[in-house]
Amino acid sequence: MTQPATLLVLFGATGDLATRMLWPSLYGLEKDGLLPAGLRILGQGRGEQSDADFRRLVAEALERRVPAEDRDPARVQALLERVHYHAARIDDTAEMSALAERICALRTGDVLYHLSTAPRFYAPIASALSSAGLSGPGTRIMIEKPIGHDLPSSVEINEGVGRAFAEERIYRTDHYLGKEGVQNLLALRFGNALFEPLWNARHIAQVQITVAETVGVEGRGDYYDHSGAMRDMVQNHLLQLLCLFAMEPPAQFEPSSVRNEKTKVLRSLRPITASDAATHSVAGQYTAGAIGGVAVPGYREELGRDSQTETFVALRSHIDNWRWSGVPFYLRTGKRLPRRSSEIYVQFHKVPHSIFGAQTKIEPNALVIQLQPEERISLTLMSKMPGLDRQGLKLSEIALDMDFHDTFAHLRKRIAYERLYLDAIEGNGTLFVRRDETELAWQWIDGIFAAWREAGTTPKSYPAGTWGPTASIVLPERHGHSWRE
Ligand code: BG6
Repeated sequence: MTQPATLLVLFGATGDLATRMLWPSLYGLEKDGLLPAGLRILGQGRGEQSDADFRRLVAEALERRVPAEDRDPARVQALLERVHYHAARIDDTAEMSALAERICALRTGDVLYHLSTAPRFYAPIASALSSAGLSGPGTRIMIEKPIGHDLPSSVEINEGVGRAFAEERIYRTDHYLGKEGVQNLLALRFGNALFEPLWNARHIAQVQITVAETVGVEGRGDYYDHSGAMRDMVQNHLLQLLCLFAMEPPAQFEPSSVRNEKTKVLRSLRPITASDAATHSVAGQYTAGAIGGVAVPGYREELGRDSQTETFVALRSHIDNWRWSGVPFYLRTGKRLPRRSSEIYVQFHKVPHSIFGAQTKIEPNALVIQLQPEERISLTLMSKMPGLDRQGLKLSEIALDMDFHDTFAHLRKRIAYERLYLDAIEGNGTLFVRRDETELAWQWIDGIFAAWREAGTTPKSYPAGTWGPTASIVLPERHGHSWRE
């Protein structure tokens, strides 16, 4: 029986992710009384400092990152009282043994390790924990993307971590799965009888998954330039959205059922080959432009060197199974696009026959599941425009809107990591990614890179503040579709 963790060991506790997201998330849980009563948190970093100094650092991070109206000094203090710090360099065996001793001293029950470090440290950390006898039952490990750079490197990381921890105790994070809007997609599909009968090729003409960002690479150039939009976003976030959208209904909302269904989708993804690279994929890289009226530099200027890394990807993908046969899934993501927006757009088939005659235009129904910046679900329907219409009915599209921002305005918007931490602390892996999912996703992505190499595909430029290279607009248009903008 999995017990809630009584110790959270955060590796990389002074890093960027920890400061921006993890400490504020832990505070959010503390504030709402959701952290187990006796939970202690041990931060690992490289620099020597006392527990007291580290607590000050955490307090500063909370001051910067948590809105003043959400900051309750008593709750901040309660969180800080849980916090400890231990300096250890991961490649130093003696220091890692000393850290292990500290873990043993603080441990009173189950332990959750969270590795917010460079992925090259995952296997060494797991192995050090294993040598100290700290990776057996009653422990679990949460690791961040990127799990590798391609299939072989992801296998290497998975095997390294897997030698120390059993698969069901490895929690691979994709922070998109912690987003309310993403879970709401499951609620929409499986909490309503209305949509599921329509969720297939008989009724759906095309699906678009867009994750658009206005930001550039923001000081992460060294990481990003080795990654690019495909590895940074498509391999994980976009494919996870695709899986949740397209999977068969799992029997239960529990780890194995959900993950089994997701892997079936990944296995059914049609490979993109060199011969269809040009018609099924577009890579882009932004040049200088303007976003919201503000001039921004191009990718290479931001990076300070030449580069062939893609900051934009658009794909036409297919899921070759009965449910989705023939339905194109357009995936698109990029940096420095005109606005921040993550959404899934579903276009249904047109009515088979119009009873209103050729002069009455009937648009296909559409469902938009917007995840960011605000959560909203909108269903467009055709409706009669008021009037006597002596020349035939005039129809226009109206939207049935569910605006979660307004409806649930009284509820605090949570950071995705709050949900993920709570689940990992409690030992629920449903919203985490299993090894085979990561590897199947890499296999598909590696295939696209191979196709690009063979076809000589390189990123086409697009000015910052536009929706990617012109080729991306053409991608769906060849098939009579266009991007929703
Ligand atoms: C991260 C990527 O995984 O997701 C970043 O590494 C990206 O490049 C970020 O900006 C987007 O996340 P969100 O939650 O802001 O949509």
